[in-house]
Formats: sequence, structure tokens, C-alpha cells
Amino acid sequence: MKNISFNVPRVVKNETNNIKKLSHLKHFSSNGHFTNMCQKWLTKNINCEEALLVNSCTSALEICAILLNIKKGDEIIMPSYTFVSTANAFVLRGGKPVFTDIDPKTLNIDPNKIKKAITKKTRAIVAVHYAGVSCDMDPILEIAKKYKIIVIEDGAQAILSRYKGKPLGSIGDLATLSFHDSKNIHCGEGGALLINNKKFIRRAKIIRDKGTNRDDFNNNIVKKYTWIDIGSSYGLSEINAAFLYAQLLKAKSIIKKRIKIWNNYHHLFYALEKEKKLLRPQIPIYAKNNAHIYYLILKKNLRDKLIKYLKSKNIIALFHYIPLHSSPFFKKYYKKNNILINTDEISKKIIRLPIYPKLTKKEAFRIKNLIFNFFK
Ligand SMILES: Cc1ncc(COP(=O)(O)O)c(C=O)c1O
Repeated sequence: MKNISFNVPRVVKNETNNIKKLSHLKHFSSNGHFTNMCQKWLTKNINCEEALLVNSCTSALEICAILLNIKKGDEIIMPSYTFVSTANAFVLRGGKPVFTDIDPKTLNIDPNKIKKAITKKTRAIVAVHYAGVSCDMDPILEIAKKYKIIVIEDGAQAILSRYKGKPLGSIGDLATLSFHDSKNIHCGEGGALLINNKKFIRRAKIIRDKGTNRDDFNNNIVKKYTWIDIGSSYGLSEINAAFLYAQLLKAKSIIKKRIKIWNNYHHLFYALEKEKKLLRPQIPIYAKNNAHIYYLILKKNLRDKLIKYLKSKNIIALFHYIPLHSSPFFKKYYKKNNILINTDEISKKIIRLPIYPKLTKKEAFRIKNLIFNFFK
């Protein structure tokens, strides 16, 4: 039987044509024609104030931490059920991640738990839109307004998803996207910082460009650029931006195909959920999903067995995350966090199924049959 990979990064064909155009444009570093085109596309389609291309979502999160002047002892509320960069970006500046529990229905941060985690040191809330499904943003924004703290949307997985009709990335003060090749839209490695709070725009450009006012120089505002703030080399090469622009132009059709596969899985696993063998993902009424992940929640001790069983049939299914509060780094440096029951439970029970635009109906059916067999 043919192998079924967990992910096959999509290539839409025009990527190489765009890259070829660079030999005429003679601009290969960051901030050229394709960076501009990608940023325009993102600003228009996400409806944010400003979009800056960067070399990863991790870099975008690091820029957020610098923009907020995070210093030793500042606290940042976020889920523990997330990728390491969500926390590490703030830890790099001396900040302390304060992990709060997730809602088992969405695997997103539970707004009811955020209030209890607020202290005088709280500077920001990072809302991670897990699997491309929106966090419940209204109560998060309400808390942030009350306590005068910043909201950052970690939208690494959430391009073109929506909350109450609004594109994710257009809601928080700041937001991030990932274009890593594990994501719906990719350029190998890449990301974007999306800015809605205008006060951050100028400084974000300086931080992205090694702490210099090179952007002013490029726009003929100053005669020579110089060092004016801290920053790093966060820009995305034009080679990646050229690749990315081809993908962005096909983003809607790529996501449409993924949604078809997601809906098919959802239909196929209905019967097992009815028999109480597993739980399927739930999409809240306020959320429009981009089908980044299709997962199932199993009963304890079955998850690893199912992954092994599928692997024996040449199908790669995965799990994640090892919650950050139980990671060796967090335990060594911060020792304790509140108990996070849902996070601990979900991380032991979740299985992620293969999902990518070229996964056929027949392949999804084969996966479904094997999982039904497993439960017999
Ligand atoms: C929630 C979340 N945040 C941040 C990142 C980091 O993205 P990148 O690999 O583009 O740095 C990821 C990557 O998977 C992620 O899932």
C-alpha cells in the first residue's frame, strides 16, 4: 500500500517563474518588489493596518516582545498548549510566560481563566488560534481593555480564518503569521507581523531592519540610514517573498481544498463519535476555520497505540504539543505553574491526521477504515 505522509507542502507552479524574475529585478535581499506585493496582499486580505514580511513567525513574535519593551519580571499570559516560539520570544527579553488553561472544546486559551492570571506585572495576552480556529476574542479584548494590556494574536496557523466575520490578524494590537512549509501557505521558512495599533508601525520597521532607519532612507526621507534602536535581521529574502507571492495568489483555492478534506474527515468520523469512541473537533459558531489541522481526541492510552497502528500501515499521524509548563526548560527556570488540567489531558489524547490539498478522498477513506478497524 502507498505511504500517506502527514504533510505534503503545496507547490502552485508559479513560484519558480517569480524567482526567475529576480534575475531581472536584481534585488535578492529583503524589502524589494515581491515583499511589497506580499505585504499589499496581506494588508488587503486580512484588513490590518500594516503587514511586514519577516523570516519566520518566531521572528514576528520576537519583534512583538521588543515593541512592548518586555523586561525582566514582566508577565505574558498565554496557553501552555502551543509551539515553543510563543513563549520563547518573550523569555528572550526576560519576560515570564504565565500559562493558563485551554477550553477542551476548542483547545484555545479559555478567557475565563485569563482574569485569574492577571497581576500588576501582566503586559500582554497572546491568543494562539490553534489549528486555525479562532480564540473567543471579545472577552479577551474586554479583559485587555480593562487592565490596559496588549493583545497579540499568534496566528501562525490561522491565515484567512475568521472571528465573527473579521479576518484573524485584524483584531489584536499585533498579530503574527507563519509561512513555514508545514503551514497552509508557505515559502519554506517565512512569517509576517501584522499591526493594527498604529503606534507600533514605525518602530516595528526599525526593529525588523537591524535597529536602523533604513526604511526612511529607502523612502528618501533621510540621506543616510543609521543605528537608532535595538533590532535584528528579521527581513525575508526576496527569493522567499517571490515564492510566497505565488502561493498567496492561490491561498483561497488552497484553503478551499483543505476545507473539503476537513469536512470529509468530519463526516467520516461522525459514527465513531456517536459510539463515544472519540471526539471530533468543534468549530464554535463565531469561527470560520481554514482547515489547518484535523485532529481527534481519543480515550487515554489509545493515542500512542493508534499512531503505531497507522504507522504499521504506512500512514503517518502525529501528536503535539508537549505542554510548555512541563518542558525541561520551564521546569528548570520557572519551577511552578498553576495546574492545567485540560492542557495535560488533551496533550495525551490528541492525534492529528494527514491533511494537505493533494490527499485524495480514497486515501481519507483508507485512513477512516483503518481507524474503524482499530476500534473494533
Ligand atoms: C502557534 C505557533 N506559533 C509560532 C510558530 C512558529 O512559526 P515559525 O516556524 O514560522 O517560526 C508556530 C509554528 O509551528 C506555531 O504553530
